[in-house]
Amino acid sequence: MSAPEPPLAMLAEITHRCPLQCPYCSNPVALERAGVELDTAAWSDLFRQAAKLGILQVHLSGGEPMARADLPELVAAATEAGLYVNLITSAVLCTEEKLATLKAAGLRHVQISLQGSEAAGADSVAGYRNAHAKKLAAAEMLRRVGLPLTVNAVMHRQNLHQLEALIGLSVELGARRLEVAHVQYYGWALKNRAALIPTRVQLDAATATVEAAQARLKGVLVIDYVIPDYYARRPKACMNGWGRRFLNVTPSGTVLPCHAAESIPGLVFERATERPLKEIWTSSPAFERFRGTDWMPEPCASCEYKEIDWGGCRCQALALTGDAANTDPVCELSPLHEQIAALAADEAAAAEDGFVYRSFRNADG
Ligand code: SF4
Ligand code: FES
Repeated sequence: MSAPEPPLAMLAEITHRCPLQCPYCSNPVALERAGVELDTAAWSDLFRQAAKLGILQVHLSGGEPMARADLPELVAAATEAGLYVNLITSAVLCTEEKLATLKAAGLRHVQISLQGSEAAGADSVAGYRNAHAKKLAAAEMLRRVGLPLTVNAVMHRQNLHQLEALIGLSVELGARRLEVAHVQYYGWALKNRAALIPTRVQLDAATATVEAAQARLKGVLVIDYVIPDYYARRPKACMNGWGRRFLNVTPSGTVLPCHAAESIPGLVFERATERPLKEIWTSSPAFERFRGTDWMPEPCASCEYKEIDWGGCRCQALALTGDAANTDPVCELSPLHEQIAALAADEAAAAEDGFVYRSFRNADG
């Protein structure tokens, strides 16, 4: 196999600490504690290696990245390395002074998550009192400081009725972009799938709402839309293909092809503290395992879409079929496809509503 192209973006999960407890958090169910986090110097070195490798953007994420006192130093280090720095935050720890400091350090863009359009429901999903009010205040601070805002709205059965209001709220807050993303079921979200999965009727209504808003708000707000996999006919090109464009680094420096990759048994993921990032990207067996198309079984191996969706999502194939090397069963060509759609419909109809909140107490290990 020829050497892979360089990645474009890195998600740096600088900490798993977070005041919020969203039941669909994309962090692994085995959270990493503060004691194992890379220090300022190690992250700074990693940012320099990333830029040298060809990475253009770093997304500073968590957990809650603002839980780290050295965030301004990390932003400055990534900026000095030549990276475009985006902050993905719950915003509940924001102050105007902190945001101004981050901007001065080189921060270019901020993404704030909203759990709903009104406080009671949003705070209940976040498992944190006053979270919603703090987020709205932070969006105002961003406007004053002069940092562009994207709103991340994760949608599910218990907040889909607020979608129209969330779109309106994003406009009011001055966001340039809104990401309407239905929950993807890995990790914590998989644990909470029965409480989150929408009905087909809800999904269709949401799609119509988004399409109407996209047309109505052209030039005002860009709306990206991610539908729930279980109701799709073709899988998404997860991560744009395993080991093709993207890498993820955990708080302790483990380098992954995607945020959920550690759920796949039998793969050994290497640490940036033990091997240069470039070597991990180009030749780590875990990155090579599902890179390209050689690993594909049928029907993917002879499918015309194999270099479009790259066979879908390995973590989802594992979660739904027990083997990460299977065709993603979201694909209608998978023999398991019908079962997945039926499972979604049954769970949505059962209408369970209790959450297992994301917390160190509820984490595995
Ligand atoms: Fe994609 Fe494989 Fe389905 Fe073809 S068979 S559409 S490559 S998941
Ligand atoms: Fe891991 Fe899709 S989330 S490959």
